[in-house]
Amino acid sequence: MTKNEGIQLVDLDEDGVDRAFRNDVLEGLSQPQKALPARWLYDDAGSQLFEDITQVPEYYPTRCETQILEQRGPEFAEAIGPGRAVVEFGSGSSVKTPLLLSAIEPGAYVPLDIAGDFLRAAAADLSAKFPGLPVYPVEADFTKRVTLPDEVADMPKLGFFPGSTIGNMVPRTSVDLLRSMRETLGTDAMLLIGMDLIKDTAILEAAYDDKKGVTAEFNLNLLRRINRELDGTIPVENFHHEARWNDTFARIEMHAVADADMTFSVAAREFAMASGETIHTENSHKFDTRSSNTLLLAGHWTPMGRWTDDKGRFSVILAKATIARAAP
Ligand code: AVI
Repeated sequence: MTKNEGIQLVDLDEDGVDRAFRNDVLEGLSQPQKALPARWLYDDAGSQLFEDITQVPEYYPTRCETQILEQRGPEFAEAIGPGRAVVEFGSGSSVKTPLLLSAIEPGAYVPLDIAGDFLRAAAADLSAKFPGLPVYPVEADFTKRVTLPDEVADMPKLGFFPGSTIGNMVPRTSVDLLRSMRETLGTDAMLLIGMDLIKDTAILEAAYDDKKGVTAEFNLNLLRRINRELDGTIPVENFHHEARWNDTFARIEMHAVADADMTFSVAAREFAMASGETIHTENSHKFDTRSSNTLLLAGHWTPMGRWTDDKGRFSVILAKATIARAAP
């Protein structure tokens, strides 16, 4: 699944190096606050580590969202109604999508993903689980408007964007994405979206710095990836993982913190870091009712319903496409 901010097609140079990755890394390491786009966390090792994160006891979002989808099916069915084409942004996660599809009576399922192999595998899996349901996978960059298959042209759409992946984007990017989704899905559309909630800082920081160190591995894997793919000499053993709550931006930030003064090279460019300096690798924004409503409204979606798990940690929000009207 493609989970992070901005998606680009792979463009390799004559040495097989991903140009966009090299440009982002060289630019990001040249800033006063070093920062790397979070999408680069998800190479094969990183994607597997993210799956492992969802199983650690401290990482509550996956369990909480699954609980909501398991328990609130009849309410979703009533609010959404039958016959919608479910358009999933990112191809279906193994547990959450079947929960939604079996709760409502969908007319079709359309997974959108840029990663074609993963998309086809997920679509085949879903078809096997729901033999009567038409499945139309679309290989596309869903951050832009996508043309949906003709077969679903006459069905009203339900967008599905679980996992609070929207929280990995800064507000400007998430508003752009929500507007593109609105364009893709059309005027009668609804959107069901997972958004993680602001809560006690200790719970948040633990969720992003688990005792087993899986999240630390996920974070530091990005430095290893730079060494592997961009001929880097980053001394990864001289870094540690840190999860910080940034209250101004209402987000958890992941940083790789340098434990010593150092110099290293990446793609034949030299860099220096002082002990204590960090490379900022991910944002995970958290929301309350008002901030999630404001974000959705800015993205041209009008909130209609909101469900939380029994500990009030995570929310799933149903919104409908905003109809443009004259306003004060
Ligand atoms: C994919 N995304 C919603 C996860 C999150 O919670 O922000 C990524 C993650 N990063 C560290 N742990 C999980």
